[in-house]
Amino acid sequence: MNKASLNGLQLAYERFGRGTPLVLIHGYPLDHTIWNPVVPLLESGFDLILPDLRGFGQSDTVRTQYTLTDMAADLAALLDFLKIKTAVIAGHSMGGYVALAFARRYPLRVRGLGLVASQAIADPPEKKPARTQMADRVETNGVGEVAESMPALLTADADLQAALKQLILRQPREGVAGALRAMANRPDSTDILSTFDFPVAIIHGLADKIIPIESARDVRAAVKKGYLVEIEGAGHMPMMEAQQVTAEALNTLR
Ligand code: MLT
Repeated sequence: MNKASLNGLQLAYERFGRGTPLVLIHGYPLDHTIWNPVVPLLESGFDLILPDLRGFGQSDTVRTQYTLTDMAADLAALLDFLKIKTAVIAGHSMGGYVALAFARRYPLRVRGLGLVASQAIADPPEKKPARTQMADRVETNGVGEVAESMPALLTADADLQAALKQLILRQPREGVAGALRAMANRPDSTDILSTFDFPVAIIHGLADKIIPIESARDVRAAVKKGYLVEIEGAGHMPMMEAQQVTAEALNTLR
């Protein structure tokens, strides 16, 4: 695991392969290791950069409240540190929200965008208090409640559920709570989709229980150069449940 010191924050990341820079951003409440199944399928064509977002994996936690744009700024600082000007930016679910925040703030640094099990819309108003209440409970009680409830929503595969539960239990409570608050406060990104001149690969499981396929279709309809792959039998974790199809779609962004 590599560490970059960025304005006082230690950000952990893995790097594999060579070719077009591709940043793979994990979702909530996980870390970069969710991408491991697709690394062998991507590393011959991409310079893969797999960060742990602030508050997750081996990156530092931050105690003050932050936004998804702050997380995107961490990634821009990581690219600066690696002396990479432009990259393909792909994110899973919350990682997709961070990718969209990156595209809004640094459009000239984006060569292509990947949205895996993600969406462009903000939370509906009724979801925000639920996120904030969960953040409060996680801060007080730890990540146990999330680790119990989330795996069944992520995938129908029992072995994968067990592995994801262990992964969630390893995440710091400050990071899980911070991400919940950041997601609750994120803006709607629909307004920027039609401005993208780069290709957008949208990868979505038809059995996703967290973000419905309609959200992915809406993104496809709003971008100029979109490519949507709908995966039969996959839930919210296509990079683990359908590695080949996910990697093929990301490979179109080379
Ligand atoms: C994720 O998988 O990153 C989150 O569940 C997305 C969300 O809660 O909106």
